[in-house]
Amino acid sequence: MKNKTEISKKLNIHAPIVEALKAAYDNPTYQFHIPGHTKGLGTLTDFRNLVGRKALKVDTTDEFDNLGTLTPATGPVKEAQELAAEAFGAKKTFFLLNGSTIGNLAIAMGLTKKGQKVIVNRNCHRSILTGLIISGADPLWVLPEKFSQWGLWGNIKAEDIEKLLDENDDVSMVWITNPTYEGVVSDVKAIADICKKYDVPLIVDEAHGCLWNFNSKLPETSLKLGADIVVHSLHKTGGSMSQSSMLHISKDSNINADDVERALMLLHTTSPSLMLLGSLDAARANLQSSKGHQQLNRAISNAKYLRSEIDKMEHIHQLKSDFGYKTDVTKIFIKADGLSGKRLESILEIDFGIEVESASDEGILILSNIGNKRSDFEYLADCLHKIDTHNYKDIYYMENKRHMPMLVPIIKKSLREAYFSEKEIVPKEEAIGRLSGEVVAECPPGISILLPGELITEEHLPYLTDYQTIEVLK
Ligand SMILES: Cc1ncc(COP(=O)(O)O)c(C=O)c1O
Repeated sequence: MKNKTEISKKLNIHAPIVEALKAAYDNPTYQFHIPGHTKGLGTLTDFRNLVGRKALKVDTTDEFDNLGTLTPATGPVKEAQELAAEAFGAKKTFFLLNGSTIGNLAIAMGLTKKGQKVIVNRNCHRSILTGLIISGADPLWVLPEKFSQWGLWGNIKAEDIEKLLDENDDVSMVWITNPTYEGVVSDVKAIADICKKYDVPLIVDEAHGCLWNFNSKLPETSLKLGADIVVHSLHKTGGSMSQSSMLHISKDSNINADDVERALMLLHTTSPSLMLLGSLDAARANLQSSKGHQQLNRAISNAKYLRSEIDKMEHIHQLKSDFGYKTDVTKIFIKADGLSGKRLESILEIDFGIEVESASDEGILILSNIGNKRSDFEYLADCLHKIDTHNYKDIYYMENKRHMPMLVPIIKKSLREAYFSEKEIVPKEEAIGRLSGEVVAECPPGISILLPGELITEEHLPYLTDYQTIEVLK
């Protein structure tokens, strides 16, 4: 067997899971265990050819080949989590499969109880609300600024959190999303100070901010600003494979990490993919490496380039840092005069072969990724210049569907109680005036349109054009 230092020297980074997987690959054994595709031989040839035999050879789960285990973390997995904690500045880091979703579920399950109040921003991801359904805690909404001209929710104001904490003496935690999907950043330091004043833990869903600790031109991570727990979707922008995320416990937090770990043990698969865990290890090591630094610098410079090109356009506008909030420069939200976001998205896709991150009512979201080349952005800027100077408005069509939920839920029954109540399915029009029995949220952005126990009103209809029926409480 090749020794590990030899391998890490070759890789020029220390990534324990990657190294252990490579060692297992280089020293194959006769396999009489799961996964049954047995290094790719027991699957469709077209699939094997598509993903490559090598990928299937390293598709294995824990317990085998000295790869360590995820729950509890042992061997290379434990070491990789420790290295990640160091890299992100945390006391403890948990690797997550099933995305940040499972992190949010574990936080709710491990740290909140039935009937407790949790301050959450209205535009939180559905996984937070699912967590509250599981635990039985009740949301106390904090409403971020409404950027009406952009059709987006904006930053959360610290004074709004303070007001809620002042009015309610039974809040068990404050749980905010920062940044928003579109990159709007709140003043987490001010929010953390208020949480400390009221002795309430602060949890930050930083799913879209996992790069921040690796470049000083990006906003400061909430882990450094006083949050107790931070969740990062490494797979979104950090370079790991889809579904893989991290949950960090802050160095200064009094939260008992065991409470979160116990919940993760209940929720996690018992057959974790070592390839996904290895991709988290690789992403962290890459972000720390000089190549990773260059990639992130390039992503920032590409974003700045695109932003400067957009500034030259007459009919295309971008969301920028403005008074009272900051933005993450790598998330570029643009809108075009006379075109809905969905229409702009389809013009880019159909006429120019470009796929953007998402589209909402007013505009589209473009991500400047660590894997993008400058030429990608030159092409995109070129296409946007064409759209700007040609009259695409002529083919503008009105959409009656709304995409970005902007209503404030009127909750008449607790989420958990409503979810487990007797329900029936009725035609959408007959659902008005009834209480929803289900979570309705479309991804992206995964913000709820309806929640269990929420009063359904006429105002919901523009968001529900794709639904014929709704599940309501009996
Ligand atoms: C703010 C936010 N939190 C959590 C999630 C869930 O993340 P994941 O897809 O990694 O489960 C998302 C997904 O889009 C999100 O936007």
